[in-house]
Amino acid sequence: MTETLSSRGLSARPQMICLAGFMGSGKTTVGTLLARQLAWRFVDLDDRIEESAGLAIAQIFERFGEPAFRQIEANQLRAALGRVSAQKEATVLALGGGTYAQPGCPEFLRTAGVPVLWLDSPVELLLSRCMTMTGRPLFRDESSFRALYAQRLPSYQLADFRVDSSGDPAQVVAQILGRGILSAGGNEAHLVVEKPNS
Ligand code: S3P
Repeated sequence: MTETLSSRGLSARPQMICLAGFMGSGKTTVGTLLARQLAWRFVDLDDRIEESAGLAIAQIFERFGEPAFRQIEANQLRAALGRVSAQKEATVLALGGGTYAQPGCPEFLRTAGVPVLWLDSPVELLLSRCMTMTGRPLFRDESSFRALYAQRLPSYQLADFRVDSSGDPAQVVAQILGRGILSAGGNEAHLVVEKPNS
């Protein structure tokens, strides 16, 4: 079933959308391309975290632990929303892989009126993408990766829209635009929302 944002109490012309999804789901790559096509600003939450801490994410985990990382992440998410509402600049925000799975985050974004797109790929594909990348402290081995994915899946399913991100990033963007999830550019964008499992 397709619903409009308005029918769910969200703005039909959002100033911001968030991309959620597990590590390796393509949030940064797809978000960059999507923002370019929409002529929106692109912000990567992981980059904001690193800038604010003056440290790479792996170092934040190493020196201060995950709870401190989550605190910085939550602060930077709030700061990103604050900037968008102050500057009125339409923005695609790529969340970190764990952001949307933190307690209260889906409710926080819903209350703020920010639509969330879940980039969904099979765990095998996520695994193969992450195998070749470094700098992800929560990617330790295959079994813990699968367990974390399973644990977070119910959170991602709370997103407003599910997008299959197993294909080429340009095709994922085309899918988002072609399915009418977001149509038109700039502040004229209009978002149509489906329940992920419908
Ligand atoms: C994390 C994912 C990472 C980054 C940090 C924690 C997670 O983001 O925020 O390493 O908890 O899954 P990406 O999904 O962009 O790699």
